[in-house]
Amino acid sequence: MPKKMRHHWLLIGACGWVLLLLMLASKLINFNTRATDDYREKAEMPSWTQTEVKSVKSLPAQTSDGRAPKSSDLPSVGPSSTSDPTDWQSVEMKRLELLSAVCKNKSLSNLNLTSVNRFVLDRIFVCDKHKILFCQTPKVGNTQWKKVLIVLNGVFSTVEEIPENLVHDHEKNGLPRLSSLTNPEIKERLKTYFKFFIVRDPFERLISAFKDKFVKNPRFEPWYKHDIAPAIIRKYRRSRRDNDNKAAAGLRFEDFIRYLGDKPGRWRMDRQFGEHVIHWVTYEELCAPCDIKYSVIGHHETLELDAPYILKAAGIERLVSYPTIPPGITRYNQTKVLQYFSGISKRDVSRLYDRYQVDFSLFSYPRPDFLLN
Ligand SMILES: *[C@@H]1O[C@H](CO)[C@@H](O)[C@H](O)[C@H]1NC(C)=O
Ligand SMILES: *[C@@H]1O[C@H](CO)[C@@H](O)[C@H](O)[C@H]1NC(C)=O
Ligand SMILES: *[C@@H]1O[C@H](CO)[C@@H](O)[C@H](O)[C@H]1NC(C)=O
Repeated sequence: MPKKMRHHWLLIGACGWVLLLLMLASKLINFNTRATDDYREKAEMPSWTQTEVKSVKSLPAQTSDGRAPKSSDLPSVGPSSTSDPTDWQSVEMKRLELLSAVCKNKSLSNLNLTSVNRFVLDRIFVCDKHKILFCQTPKVGNTQWKKVLIVLNGVFSTVEEIPENLVHDHEKNGLPRLSSLTNPEIKERLKTYFKFFIVRDPFERLISAFKDKFVKNPRFEPWYKHDIAPAIIRKYRRSRRDNDNKAAAGLRFEDFIRYLGDKPGRWRMDRQFGEHVIHWVTYEELCAPCDIKYSVIGHHETLELDAPYILKAAGIERLVSYPTIPPGITRYNQTKVLQYFSGISKRDVSRLYDRYQVDFSLFSYPRPDFLLN
C-alpha cells in the first residue's frame, strides 16, 4: 500500500472515532436534558432518572439573562408573589400543590371537573423530539410558545423564519396535536412528557378576548363579527330598540359578559360556535388540569421568571430562548379591568364570577372583590 493511501485510511479511522465519541456525548447530554419528565411522577420512573430529578429540584431561580430576579420583576397580584422571590422553584411547586388540593376539594368537584376528552386533546401540541406537551390557552401569549415548539420540532430553524399565517396552521407547521395520535401513543406521552401551559387573570383574559375578536375583529376571522356577535346580541342584548339601531350593531362588552355568565343557557350556543370558544372557555375546560398532571403552570403576570424556568425545566434552555418580553406588558392592570366592568351590573359580574370561579381557584387568582362587593 503506498504511503499516501495509508495516511488516508488512518485519517478516516480517526474521524470515525471522533464521530462515535461525539454521538455518545450527545446521547449523554440528551439524557441529562430529559431529566424533567414529570418530577411529580418520579416514583414511576426508572432508577436512572433519580439523580436527574434532583438536578431539576435545585434549579437556581434566575431570569433569562442570568441575574437573580429583583423584587421589581415580581407582579403585584396573586398569592404566589408573596413567596420568597429568590426561590422560584418553590413558587412553581406551591402552585402545583395548591392546584392539586383544589382539584380534590369536594365542594369544587360539583363543578364537573374536566377529564381528558377530544376537545382537550385538540388543545395540546406535541414536540416529540424533546418530549414536550403544550396546552394552548389563547389570549395568554401562546403564539410565542407555539413558535418556540415549531422551531424545536425542526421544520423551521428560527422563530423569525416562521410565516405568521403558518403558526396556527397545524397541517403545515410541524406541530401536531395530541388528538392526531393513537390512544396508546397519547397515553404514553401524557405519562412521560414534560407538560405545561400558561394562565393569566381570568377576567383580564376575557377582556383581551373581547378586544381581539370583537373590537379589532381580524379580517381573516370574519365569523366573530358575522356569526358569533349577532347570535350573542340576539339572545343577550337587553333593549330591543338598541338592537334595531344600526349604530349599536357591534357586540358590547356587557352582551359578551351576559352570555359568558349564563351557565345553563350558553351550552347550546357554545356547541354551535365550535372551536372558536377556545378564546373564552375556562382553562379548566381547555387543559383538564385536574386530570392531567402538568409539570409546570406558568403565569402570564410572572412570565419574565416563568419563561426561563419552563425552558430550563423542559431541558431546552440551550436550544431556544423565549422572545423578548416588552416591559410592563404582562402586568395585571386593575384600572383596565375596572374600566371594562364599570357599566356591568353586580348581578352579571357575580354570575360571570360563578362561571369562572374554577379558574380563579385552581390557579390562585384572588377573587375580584373590587367588582363584586
Ligand atoms: C374547598 O372549597 C371551598 C369553597 O371554595 C372552601 O371554602 C374550602 O376552604 C375548600 N377546602 C379546602 C380543604 O381547600
Ligand atoms: C354536573 O353534571 C351532571 C351530570 O351531567 C349535571 O346533572 C349537573 O347539573 C352538573 N353540575 C354542574 C354544577 O354543572
Ligand atoms: C392600564 O389600563 C389603562 C386603561 O386601559 C391604561 O390607560 C393604562 O395605560 C394601563 N396601565 C398600564 C401600566 O399599562
